[in-house]
Amino acid sequence: MSNVLLKVNKIKKYFPKKTGSLKKNMSYVKAVDDVSFEVFEGETLGIVGESGCGKSTTGRMIMRLLEPTDGSILFEDVELSSLSKTEMRKARRDIQMVFQDPYASLNPRHTVKKILEEPLIVHGIGDKKERQTRVEEYLEIVGLSAYHAQRYPHQFSGGQRQRIGIARALMTNPKLIIADEPVSALDVSIQAQVLNLMKRLQEDLKLTYIFIAHDLGVVRHISDRVGVMYLGRLVEIAPSESLYAEPLHPYSQALLSAVPIPDPTYQREQIMLTGDTSSSTETGCTFQLRCPYATTVCKMNVPELVEVRPGHSVACHLVGEQQ
Ligand SMILES: Nc1ncnc2c1ncn2[C@@H]1O[C@H](COP(=O)(O)OP(=O)(O)OP(=O)(O)O)[C@@H](O)[C@H]1O
Ligand SMILES: [Mg+2]
Repeated sequence: MSNVLLKVNKIKKYFPKKTGSLKKNMSYVKAVDDVSFEVFEGETLGIVGESGCGKSTTGRMIMRLLEPTDGSILFEDVELSSLSKTEMRKARRDIQMVFQDPYASLNPRHTVKKILEEPLIVHGIGDKKERQTRVEEYLEIVGLSAYHAQRYPHQFSGGQRQRIGIARALMTNPKLIIADEPVSALDVSIQAQVLNLMKRLQEDLKLTYIFIAHDLGVVRHISDRVGVMYLGRLVEIAPSESLYAEPLHPYSQALLSAVPIPDPTYQREQIMLTGDTSSSTETGCTFQLRCPYATTVCKMNVPELVEVRPGHSVACHLVGEQQ
């Protein structure tokens, strides 16, 4: 097994909910609740789950764009919260983010050159000429051309803009890229191209990815392992083969049943979930109200994430019983 690059341990992010004026009635949105996982050097960890389950909040805490309410985040064995501002700025070179909407995340008033140069200036990398060379080099690495440097974001297609977003993330030579739904806003025909590009870059530049997506279909071919989140919790994490062949958590089973199968002769029954992500309860398993198998124990206790097969962990009281 390769080295652990990132270790996330019991992280939480609770956002205060505005309910009345009484402090004692303060309630929280538990956007991320007690999430732990590791990311190994050189791998892609996919993180999936429906809207609002805490995927972006998790990514933003790792980026230190958000301060965790609790828990620890170790990057190369160093606790990120212990770093001073200057040290954190250095660490930022190593962890970069690619966002969902490449249009919103690229300043429309800046040329591509300026956009790509900025991380270099912020981190004091290279002189003017070296920066110019690097901008042109990275435009080519992502499948664009050096002459594109003088253009503005609106002059590009969605797919090209995301290539610029990827180039920007690569400028500081990072080790870890957190890609937050990087292809969700793109046409299906373009998605595969961007995914292939990311895969190639990973091999060439020895990158490690956390790849966030809504559904299991998108991350299938790019992920070595996949984590499934539900309402702020990681409910299952496993090597891809294991998860796609046999998802153990009822929520993962429902998510997988929604992924279309290319072979029309093969029928898979789609599991329809009732309720929505707002169906939450104060005690027990967060999935209990939507779970077709929920029993009394699910209403009482929060299930722990338990490794049930090599590398395959699941947080469900009923695993073992339902099969
Ligand atoms: N700054 C904030 N203040 C208050 N609540 C927030 C804030 N950011 C996120 N939340 C809430 O935290 C929960 C998790 O949000 P998050 O954006 O992490 O979900 P997500 O899984 O990325 O969803 P999506 O797939 O829609 O991007 C949601 O209920 C959201 O409304
Ligand atoms: Mg999000």
